[in-house]
Amino acid sequence: MVREILTYPNPKLREVSKDVTSFDAKLHALLDDMYDTMIERGGVGLAAIQIGVELNAVVINPVNEEGEQKKEDLIEFINPQIIESDGTILFQEGCLSVPSVYEDVERFEKVKVRFFDRAGDECVKEYEGFMSVAVQHEIDHLRGRLFIEKLSYLKRKKFEKEWKKKLKAKA
Ligand code: CO
Repeated sequence: MVREILTYPNPKLREVSKDVTSFDAKLHALLDDMYDTMIERGGVGLAAIQIGVELNAVVINPVNEEGEQKKEDLIEFINPQIIESDGTILFQEGCLSVPSVYEDVERFEKVKVRFFDRAGDECVKEYEGFMSVAVQHEIDHLRGRLFIEKLSYLKRKKFEKEWKKKLKAKA
């Protein structure tokens, strides 16, 4: 089921999410809703808090080399934690909670992540490039942080000015 995505500056997006403790049908329904919502809105990643659920759950579905977003490439991260990181990479990021804004952000180039899958099995995987950036972006959501907080002072100021204008025009 497609759910509503909270957008900046909704204060709920600043909340720190809690660990998932039961890997049950309710969690599976949440993950399915997150997938449906992400796909419907044309995103490649979504954290549960973006649909108002403060649980450490993330879905990422990268686009493959043929430019297709296949469900078989979907990865669900429950209670993800970065346990190792290396290098830096500059990557243009966007976010369904800050629609139509794209900015370069510096992140770790490689990360090793420990997480659980929907069955409750522990996994450890290493990522680089897009997947590394996406994992870091989504884990930031779980800690109540948005990518715009990583912009330089001047870029952030410019963003706030334009965002305010946009909100006013919508009201
Ligand atoms: Co985001």
